[in-house]
Amino acid sequence: MDTHNNSEKPQDTGHEWDGIRELTNPPPRWWLISFHIGWIWCIIYFLLYPSIPLINGSNEGLLGWTQIKEFKEAVAENDAVKAPYVEKLKAMSASDIMADAELRNFAESAAKAVYGDNCAACHGAGGEGAEGLFPVLADDNWLYGGDIDTIIETITDGRMGDMPAHADMLEAEQIETLTDFVIALPKGEASKAGWAMFEEAGCMGCHGDNAKGGALNDDTYSGAVNLTDQVWRFGGNREEVLRTIRYGVNQDDVAQTRSAIMPAFGEKLTAEQIKILAIKIHAMGGGQ
Ligand code: HEC
Ligand code: HEC
Repeated sequence: MDTHNNSEKPQDTGHEWDGIRELTNPPPRWWLISFHIGWIWCIIYFLLYPSIPLINGSNEGLLGWTQIKEFKEAVAENDAVKAPYVEKLKAMSASDIMADAELRNFAESAAKAVYGDNCAACHGAGGEGAEGLFPVLADDNWLYGGDIDTIIETITDGRMGDMPAHADMLEAEQIETLTDFVIALPKGEASKAGWAMFEEAGCMGCHGDNAKGGALNDDTYSGAVNLTDQVWRFGGNREEVLRTIRYGVNQDDVAQTRSAIMPAFGEKLTAEQIKILAIKIHAMGGGQ
């Protein structure tokens, strides 16, 4: 039974399924407008942008747009924003850059990628180092020194700590005494006999009269570690300390010597890259 619009029965197409008729009413106006906008939009888009796949790529489109071009434009825009900063970084010394909060921030964030590409493999993403192999950079404990000029020098020229092997120079007993001494030092329990042996064996020449290491003693070898703190370069248990004293560090002719080589980056990186890296490392170490 037809209960709707009984008075004017709309035209139908003659199709009917289970009492549902297909009418010939025109589609609503809003629908028609959207429909036409839709296909016109498709054609315009089709003409303006690359749309026909070809064997090597696609047609160009009237706008000549490509993703690569858009990317390059974005990069150029970014470079233009950075240009004044980059110029300043080139012209200014590291300490002047650090004195300017804005430039310093810029340098530190620009250094992230350079650090990731060149340093993180050894020193860790956050400068945490690797025990016994690569020193921690994110602390205020330095082999060579944490002032900005020393850090620049370290990165530019590289470093190679040099400690002689003492296995053939000292008696086994003397080495034992020195090992006890080194382990007792950070605990504040070093004996007089230990200090005497430390002097007699020539350890003070590099580690200093106070055993605080070269970075804290101007007249001694700068890479020689501070032996009085709790921070161990190679490990503080008996075996590790014995090994260091017996076989030294970076001794080519000693099979069990420790290897500790920081590569030189002076030729691989630009002066600006080294400058911003040093600023970042300086900040990681808490500055000085
Ligand atoms: C192949 C591993 C390796 C890479 C790569 C490396 N380093 Fe080193 N770095 C070392 C080692 C090993 C030492 C310790 C040298 C020593 O004990 O004499 C060191 C020492 C340092 C020191 C001295 C720390 C101190 O306490 O005085 C700094 C600073 C430093 N590295 C920064 C960097 C920066 C910045 C980079 C990236 C440009 C870098 N390193 C890349 C291995 C590496
Ligand atoms: C020619 C200089 C030199 C002399 C002499 C020297 N050292 Fe060293 N020593 C170093 C350097 C450099 C390092 C650190 C190596 C590195 O990290 O590159 C070091 C590291 C050590 C370490 C490792 C500490 C740690 O934190 O793991 C110990 C222990 C040590 N020395 C003890 C001694 C004792 C004991 C003597 C005397 C028998 C001595 N050294 C003589 C230069 C020297």
